[in-house]
Amino acid sequence: MCGIVGYVGKQKAAPILVDGLRRLEYRGYDSAGVAIIRDQAILTRKKKGKIDEGLARLLATDGVEGTIGIGHTRWATHGPPSDENSHPHLDQSGHVAVVHNGVIENYERLKERLVQKGHIFKSSTDTEVLAHLIGDHYERIKLPGAVDGQAGPGKELDSVLPHPLAQAVMNALKEVIGAYGIGVICADFPGVIIGARRGSPLIVGVGEGENFLASDANAIASHTRQVVYLNDYDVATLTPDKLSVTRLGSDKPNNVQISQLEYSGADAERGAYPHFMLKEIFEQPRTVENALRGRIEHDQATAKFGGLNMTMAELRAVDHIVIPACGTSWHAALIGEYLFEEFAHIPTEVEYASEFRYRNAPIEKHTLVMVITQSGETADTLASLREAKRKGHKVLAICNVVGSTIAREADGGIYLHAGPEIGVASTKAFTSQVTVLTLLALLMGRIRMLAANRGMQVIHALEALPQQLDSILTQNEAIKRIALKYAAAEDFFFLGRQYNFPAALEGALKLKEISYIHAEGYPAAEMKHGPIAMIDEKTPTVVVIPSDSIYEKTFSNLQEIKARKGPIIAIATEGNERILKEVNDVIFVPETLEPLFPLLAVLPLQLLAYHIAVARGCDVDKPRNLAKSVTVE
Ligand code: G6P
Repeated sequence: MCGIVGYVGKQKAAPILVDGLRRLEYRGYDSAGVAIIRDQAILTRKKKGKIDEGLARLLATDGVEGTIGIGHTRWATHGPPSDENSHPHLDQSGHVAVVHNGVIENYERLKERLVQKGHIFKSSTDTEVLAHLIGDHYERIKLPGAVDGQAGPGKELDSVLPHPLAQAVMNALKEVIGAYGIGVICADFPGVIIGARRGSPLIVGVGEGENFLASDANAIASHTRQVVYLNDYDVATLTPDKLSVTRLGSDKPNNVQISQLEYSGADAERGAYPHFMLKEIFEQPRTVENALRGRIEHDQATAKFGGLNMTMAELRAVDHIVIPACGTSWHAALIGEYLFEEFAHIPTEVEYASEFRYRNAPIEKHTLVMVITQSGETADTLASLREAKRKGHKVLAICNVVGSTIAREADGGIYLHAGPEIGVASTKAFTSQVTVLTLLALLMGRIRMLAANRGMQVIHALEALPQQLDSILTQNEAIKRIALKYAAAEDFFFLGRQYNFPAALEGALKLKEISYIHAEGYPAAEMKHGPIAMIDEKTPTVVVIPSDSIYEKTFSNLQEIKARKGPIIAIATEGNERILKEVNDVIFVPETLEPLFPLLAVLPLQLLAYHIAVARGCDVDKPRNLAKSVTVE
């Protein structure tokens, strides 16, 4: 949700910032802008709309030279998308520029005070208030030698700690209530960027004679793989050659720990695919393989994980599981609920993280709280983790982004190793999450009552998945033809039972996210309790109907739709010829165990949504109003 990038070094800043912003655009794309220091002045260029249509065109005709700058791509919170509301924002003097992710909750009160002092605001954003506040503090503390550009890059850092601009930022942040990840530059210091965070991710990329600031490693992975993950309340001072990190409220520098990025810039590129979403759908045979790699113990018919940080005795003592999550991760969690209950007989509850964090639900002593998140930064999921930890529970995280806030704050966890997911609609993260949940349920089951032969069946079925997923992908063209038949529909239903009910929810979510078609997922039998009133010959229903123990039940539900002339697309098990004459279209997927069927069924659902959205001319990778990583509540 919004992206920040900053550069200080010897190269031209503008191309580095714009390239970084393009790589962050999946996080927010209402507007984009940069601020660059040139001849002791701050020059900003910002534009409403996507980067290629706005900022990049502006810079092509009205470029800015300079070797230090900050950039931002926005997902609007305060004030609609417009050139004025775009970041960076300047302070009253025009000497300080700020980019900001997050929300300043007390901005109205701060603004009132500044207006009384004579400040004039140009936008309706909370960020402009923060810029003015930092500028105001800077005016009060600025050193005589630091004005009019007399102070050179890096010089102040050697002589004064914290740096005067960092001090101004810290003084301002002490007045702020809310969440922020910020980048700040000041015309008086043409070699210094200040970064600070609380609640919004921020990292520093360490280069040679250059340093980077970013809200997401994707922005800088093509320049350096050495990164420092900032923690809440950290304030970082970057010059071309130095990095110092201080904690808000302290004047002593912290020890800085440099981590190595797992992937390179090329991993986050689209390659020959027309969209990241399609690329990521096609990556799934490999990402599922990665989620399984090294985690199966054939001898014991169980699974193993390196980072749970729990002993077998602790795992054995778990008698409840609670899983807070959001969006697609919440759907994966629902499949986890079925898995833990069936494999390990552990009562499991799945919670919307946004509800869990405020609900004050009584959590019993031996409850394992487990959050699931692709990004590791979702604000509500992070707050749920903190709430559960505050109550003294161990919290595990199933997470994709290495080094993300949730990954670092959890007591233990499991990485997906799915690589960067750029498409806003989550695809490969979902299949990896469900794969990891299956492994964990297998482990939890095997230390309880799950028999070894059943464990082996699950392992064999898991190991068959990559090849089965490959075979589904070969049907892409056929799925596209089906999608085109229904692309004009305005309403869709998705039905499934048991393990495939969450798959139906996920199919509906994919379709509405990227095609803006109204779509609802239901447990197949629930349809007749209301939603069936919507069914007519223009309203298609996708039914996930494996040849499983409740096939006949799902089949009856399908007949109820058919009797009301609703077109039906079935996702069925290969070999079920009988279904061909009952429905309008069928997509067959290979046979697997009942609990694993959603892992196969979701691929055709993703492809259906993708092709329908493309046929309707939608921007699949950047759907309207959405953002990849939701770091506000
Ligand atoms: C946003 C994304 C969804 C994602 C959800 C949870 O809404 O658009 O695709 O499922 O956040 O994100 P997380 O990173 O916590 O899995």
